[in-house]
Amino acid sequence: MAEAGAMWGGRFGSGSDALFRAINDSLAIDWRLIEQDLDGSIAWASGLVGAGVLSREEADRIVAGLEEIRDEARGLEGPPLDSGAEDVHTWVEQRLIDRIGTLGKKLHTGRSRNDQVATDLRLWTRGAIDELVGLIEDAQRALVALADRESETIMAGYTHLQRAQPVLAAHWALAYVEMLARDAARLADARSRVNVCPLGCGALAGTAYEVDREAIAKALGFDAPTANSLDSVADRDFVLEVLDALVQCGLHLSKLGEELVLFASGEFGFVEVGDAFASGSSLMPQKKNPDALELLRAKAGVIAGQRAGFAMVLKSLPLAYNKDLQEDKAALFRGVDELSLCLRIVAGVIPTLVFDRQRCLGAARAGHSNATDLADALVERGVAFREAHEIVGSLVREAIARGVALEDLDLKTLRAASDVIDKDVLASLTPERGMARRNAIGGSSPARVREAVGGWKGRLGMAGA
Ligand code: ARG
Repeated sequence: MAEAGAMWGGRFGSGSDALFRAINDSLAIDWRLIEQDLDGSIAWASGLVGAGVLSREEADRIVAGLEEIRDEARGLEGPPLDSGAEDVHTWVEQRLIDRIGTLGKKLHTGRSRNDQVATDLRLWTRGAIDELVGLIEDAQRALVALADRESETIMAGYTHLQRAQPVLAAHWALAYVEMLARDAARLADARSRVNVCPLGCGALAGTAYEVDREAIAKALGFDAPTANSLDSVADRDFVLEVLDALVQCGLHLSKLGEELVLFASGEFGFVEVGDAFASGSSLMPQKKNPDALELLRAKAGVIAGQRAGFAMVLKSLPLAYNKDLQEDKAALFRGVDELSLCLRIVAGVIPTLVFDRQRCLGAARAGHSNATDLADALVERGVAFREAHEIVGSLVREAIARGVALEDLDLKTLRAASDVIDKDVLASLTPERGMARRNAIGGSSPARVREAVGGWKGRLGMAGA
């Protein structure tokens, strides 16, 4: 006989080695599925009534027992590891038998932990997606509020980390709102494939009892029962797919973290992070380090590690259930936990950012970021763009040599390069004028950005929409 807590002892002559227990037991991790396991078990008890295995009265006693176990579980500080149970499913079953006696032994009729765990994890994942989408929206609201606050702040926009063209800080913040919207959409899309019910597939070949799988799926809020029992107990596509969506979101947040680390540096000096999200140095009294943002940058790697690791676990697995699949939970839980923390950090840190508007404007003015505007002005005066590009390029070279801005070159030099240049052209070279011209859909003109801020406020249910 295997020791107490094992649900498969009949066939065994001796107990398990402690090392076997160490690699095999999963209660410490899958304890997080306790609520879902109880919900699934309650739905299964009803299914067994339909199949004629349990009377209504028996099912009611089982359900009452499961609800008592729910109360018991909620009162516990953590997984009941001293119970000796192998996993959350065996713990629930054992507690049920402890409470209601032999009747408890009927619940597992026609069910396997294989369809059970797949069902539990899908229920959990569905809830996690809904929570993450809510957290994404919180982060978006923080960014939209920042965009609103900095709707007139002009800063340098970059490509290749070289000053390129001026943009509004609001436009920059809204770029992240767009990224996050795609992340939420990816999760919502994955949810449609998560939300199907494997319960009633048994160990691999389907259940031998006439349960109404449609009704069970419906009772658990699933869209439909899964179609193929072999696939149903083996399928962890949904875990990988959700991890993928988490990685994508994590990558966006790492970009945000990195940009803010740069912007908060002495070299950029665009923003200051609130004290509550920074730390000091144990040695250098002057330091204020953007640790939260650095960790935001790092966590994408941690999440991607879960995704890559679990993909390797799935590689070459034969049908149907294999114990390898037990590794799904540690990877998914870690990924979800890390991303959820990151999203909450974004919602917390963004409102603390203080922009140095003068410094941002200075950067927008520097680096000849108005070179495209000068070329555009020449185009307006009839010069072909390629020629204008060439002319302005030579003027930039001259300006660099003299250490001045384009608009500070003397008119004689400018007109020698192109005689269409006049005082009006020079007056149009301010960042404000340059940005105002970028007024096509998606551009950084104040009008377009105001429109975008308003649109997002409406979509996110924010005041002032
Ligand atoms: N703890 C297991 C898991 O997470 C439950 C399923 C066990 N199934 C089995 N055939 N041993 O995958």
